[in-house]
Amino acid sequence: MCAASYAVMGVIMSADRYFTEDEIQRLPVHIAAIMDGNGRWAKARLLPRTAGHRVGSETFRRAAEFMSEIGVRYFTVYAFSTENWKRPPEEVGVIMELLEKYLNESVSSMAEKNIRLNFFGDLSRLSLRLLALVEKTRKISENCTGLCVNVCLNYGGRQEIVRAARAAAEEALAGRVCPENIDENYLSSFMYSKGIPDPDLIIRPGREVRISNFLLWQCAYSEFYFTDKMWPEMDETEFVKAIKSYLDRNRRFGGI
Ligand code: IPE
Ligand code: IPE
Ligand code: MG
Repeated sequence: MCAASYAVMGVIMSADRYFTEDEIQRLPVHIAAIMDGNGRWAKARLLPRTAGHRVGSETFRRAAEFMSEIGVRYFTVYAFSTENWKRPPEEVGVIMELLEKYLNESVSSMAEKNIRLNFFGDLSRLSLRLLALVEKTRKISENCTGLCVNVCLNYGGRQEIVRAARAAAEEALAGRVCPENIDENYLSSFMYSKGIPDPDLIIRPGREVRISNFLLWQCAYSEFYFTDKMWPEMDETEFVKAIKSYLDRNRRFGGI
């Protein structure tokens, strides 16, 4: 489904505040973001890193509302990687607390805005309380038909691919699939992103030009946008800049 047809469903919208009619027709269906730079944003203001995470979680809430407003169909955000456990336990604790706080406070308002919340990642390592909240959120918003927000939590692209390969191997071992029938579509059906189109645009603030184990399977033909802004500085203007840059690209998918 393209962004324009989504608009016709009457869920939005004010994309025309930012984009021309032609641009609205070509808006990315799926945008992903690596929410990086919270710690450095805080340090530059002589604040503890955790203050950056607090502001960053508010930035996420506003970003999701903006994506919903302009008629983007999927918004996938990298909130915590499989490698982020290497951080001091105090910082990990604050990030988990903020996630709980966000879920507690935003579930109903997101559902009112018809926003569906979904989660990618190995959730088994989360606390039981957070896990329960994640499940509750998923359930409450499962019938929302507007923007779908995928929150990547204890997520790693390699872990996701290994998990899919293992599931396919189990199916083969059980005789339910022949190894020669394991193709890209089949493996995709074991990814967290099953049924969701690949991201058209991946935005990474925070000055780093790398993928950091995000959506490795899905990013094969994504367009990338890197910016020196830190995640807490990402506002409507910055997202519009990223999307306009995307709209200027010529996507060939290997063709000419
Ligand atoms: C991203 O910001 C948030 C998470 C990884 C959880 P960082 O905490 O990585 O901030 P920087 O990159 O150190 O500034
Ligand atoms: C990527 O940021 C992960 C998230 C934003 C959740 P990192 O800060 O962990 O990435 P690196 O370590 O700079 O590659
Ligand atoms: Mg970082």
